[in-house]
Amino acid sequence: MKKRKLKKSVIYIFAGLVALFVIGILGYNFYKEMNYRKTYEYKLLEKGYTMEEVPILLEKLTEEQITKLLEQEKEENITPILQEKYYLSKNLEDYLAFRKENPDRNTYDIVAMVNIHANKDWYEIIIPTDTTKNNTILVNKFYQLPEDYTPEALVNVSNWYCYGENKITQETYDAFINMYNAAKEQNIKIIINSSYRNYQEQEQTYQELKATYGSKKADEQAARPGHSEHESGLAIDVFTPGNTTTVNFKESEAYQWLKNHAHEYGFIERYPEDKEYLTGYRFESWHWRYVGIEIATQIHEEEITFDEYYAYYLEN
Ligand code: DAL
Ligand code: ZN
Repeated sequence: MKKRKLKKSVIYIFAGLVALFVIGILGYNFYKEMNYRKTYEYKLLEKGYTMEEVPILLEKLTEEQITKLLEQEKEENITPILQEKYYLSKNLEDYLAFRKENPDRNTYDIVAMVNIHANKDWYEIIIPTDTTKNNTILVNKFYQLPEDYTPEALVNVSNWYCYGENKITQETYDAFINMYNAAKEQNIKIIINSSYRNYQEQEQTYQELKATYGSKKADEQAARPGHSEHESGLAIDVFTPGNTTTVNFKESEAYQWLKNHAHEYGFIERYPEDKEYLTGYRFESWHWRYVGIEIATQIHEEEITFDEYYAYYLEN
């Protein structure tokens, strides 16, 4: 009798313990689940982002950006933008808005154009350029030099190297001479045809073109005053004997040599072929810009425009 009672109690205790254990496990899992539901991972998955997308979103977005994303409809195909090499977090909203207006543009272009403001009309915004950047000053259709800007250390170019009167900064000149000598060893002669122009001279250049061809054509070929690299003393237009026009310089050996070697002396091709949508100018095989060897080499290797380089590496 006593024995049976004891057995029953043991069973009750055991059952109680099992029940407690089960409740404990369930409670713990419930607690874990509740906590998981508070995470961005859960919320993003709930929103419809995939298991492949979520880790990328968590890595690339700020908390604020995730919160915003969760308040909106699911953004389709967002991760290719986040994974673009030149993606800048501060531009995310503009990338998405620009892509909506331009669904046929590829992701590279969306990111590049927004980074350099080329999602806007040329001259739509005017930004006073940072003139303390010296050899890496950006001058384009959005970044403007002051009207009274005079580059430091402008020097006259010897007639040995140029047609007519020319001035460039001392550092640009030294680099040019090195480049000139290296090209000469390959029997290639690079002659400076045009270089520094002040604001008033640029205004004249632009107005003459505008009077002849109208403003659309003029804008494809020349900068408005304040917006020309020629005002920085860092740009040169070059020719070679036999190819002395803007039409045929691109067919010269000198152009090919420059394409392969100019960066070794600190120069970059500033308005390359097929990059008009980024630079705002038609292809100018003759226009070379001094930025220094290290940056020129990086720009050459990454095959980007100076506008893109500046936005990603210098301004950011
Ligand atoms: N031709 C170049 C773009 C200038 O006017 O500066
Ligand atoms: Zn030029």
